[in-house]
Amino acid sequence: MAGHLAIRGEDWAKDGRPQTRPRGIIDGPNYPKSLEGPKYVGRRGLPSACQGVFMKDRVNVLCIGAGYVGGPTMAVIADRCPHVTVNVVDINAARIQAWQTDDLPIFEPGLLEVVKRARGRNLFFSTDIEAGIAAADIIFVSVNTPTKTFGEGAGRAADLQYWEKTARQILACSTNSKIVVEKSTLPVRTAEAMDRILNSNTRGLRFEVLSNPEFLAEGTAVKDLELPDRVLIGSHETPEGIRARKAVADIYATWVARERIIESSLWSAELSKLVANAFLAQRISSINAISALCELTEADVDEVAFAIGSDSRIGPRFLKASVGFGGSCFKKDILNLVYIAQSHGLDEVARYWEAVVRMNEWQETRFVRRMLAAMFNTVAGKKIAIFGFAFKAETGDTRESPALEVTKQLAAEHAHVVITDPKALDNARIDTAGLEGTIAFTPDPYEAARGAHAIAVLTEWNLYRDLDWARLLASMERPAFVFDGRNILDHHRLFDLGFNVFAIGKRPLRHV
Ligand code: UDX
Ligand code: UDX
Repeated sequence: MAGHLAIRGEDWAKDGRPQTRPRGIIDGPNYPKSLEGPKYVGRRGLPSACQGVFMKDRVNVLCIGAGYVGGPTMAVIADRCPHVTVNVVDINAARIQAWQTDDLPIFEPGLLEVVKRARGRNLFFSTDIEAGIAAADIIFVSVNTPTKTFGEGAGRAADLQYWEKTARQILACSTNSKIVVEKSTLPVRTAEAMDRILNSNTRGLRFEVLSNPEFLAEGTAVKDLELPDRVLIGSHETPEGIRARKAVADIYATWVARERIIESSLWSAELSKLVANAFLAQRISSINAISALCELTEADVDEVAFAIGSDSRIGPRFLKASVGFGGSCFKKDILNLVYIAQSHGLDEVARYWEAVVRMNEWQETRFVRRMLAAMFNTVAGKKIAIFGFAFKAETGDTRESPALEVTKQLAAEHAHVVITDPKALDNARIDTAGLEGTIAFTPDPYEAARGAHAIAVLTEWNLYRDLDWARLLASMERPAFVFDGRNILDHHRLFDLGFNVFAIGKRPLRHV
């Protein structure tokens, strides 16, 4: 690799001694693994066995895309690595401005504390993408890769226009060689196209493209980043590629145990991200399929999930039956996998994974049908309180939230829907704008329930467990119904209070 982004390897003398003193910034396995906050390791304190060393005092990391993935990831890197300068840029000026205040653009437990420790020290937010690119040694690209809505592959393939535009911008603004890291989830072999675009230059610049997919889940992003199950870094299996991935591995090794940092080929890393999400979603669709059977056979889906999850080969996680999975990733990534399989002529593989998404859609529709059937086959003119609009608890994110589909279907049935949520009301307003029917919003669950015929719990916020359900019931129309789309409530207690209770994968508890 040329330029001042010299990565330890061939640039070092053949006798094994560095031509330049290793002015490392990156610590190896001896770095303290404590989670109590960052500790600066000065150059003098560096172990001699530094891996992948840049020939400069500090490494300059840039992240393009200050969203749910880029923002928290870079904040944790900056927090843990005071010796790395981290710049985060985005085309969205309002988002960047919010990152500079204490009212961050996304809600994540613990994130503000992490940002406040590093911001202004070695973590910076800006809209100056060009200057950021010019100064960077390593560029993480975390722009969105939504499902294509037009042309070939519409509804399934990933829309890579922002990615390609960003690659071209990196090329245009670079004056030195760089490592470019795919953080966004991308179809397998996207790096090939990136490689071609970036390395098509005639200026002698060399770009090493890596894949470092993100496995953080919303609501636990900081914890997932601070204590990850694994970090995956893929590269070309060339000496330059392997050196580049070791340089990025060294950044993570500041706080992640080496044995949790997995190195692989580029293609394995790209595909692993899609497959991880597909497997997680498949477990939910599997248990949701069984929930329908439970409701007809008087088996209890939570008992079944516990029984099968106790088998160490299956394990207990991601077996919680629900109204359906949401979030920006699962559906998008599975449809992307389906499209890739189809484009390779693997129709059986495509059909197999597509069924995971179809089962999820069916579960959402089934939930509404069950509401209708229980409420005497009509909800027209009835007030229905939706408890929770976020796609899961501890986030204000509503992307692909099952609550939107349920709201749409209830509104189409002419129900009067009142939505309450502690974090997601702003997004709920945007998502439901233009829907026919009457939809209202309130942060207060008691107000939402007043005069309602039914409550549908669609997000597993803890606060809903602890509400005064007798007070809620007293303010509702009779017969009063609760539909627990997350199985978080004490169903027998609610039944004893007087509610008709319908939970996922359980026998209904009804007075009428
Ligand atoms: C997104 C994708 O959804 C996910 O597949 C991928 O793995 C990472 O990026 P997320 O961070 O949740 O995840 O998306 P989002 O919150 O929309 O953030 C993307 C950011 O990129 C936005 O703030 C957007 O303004 C920015 N962006 C987009 C750019 O800065 N430049 C562009 O050209 C396009
Ligand atoms: C997911 C992956 O977990 C993460 O590794 C990846 O990087 C991004 O996609 P996220 O979408 O933030 O993360 O949330 P996750 O916790 O996976 O939940 C997704 C959806 O599945 C939520 O709607 C959640 O409520 C639902 N879910 C999850 C269930 O219905 N049952 C379960 O047992 C688990």
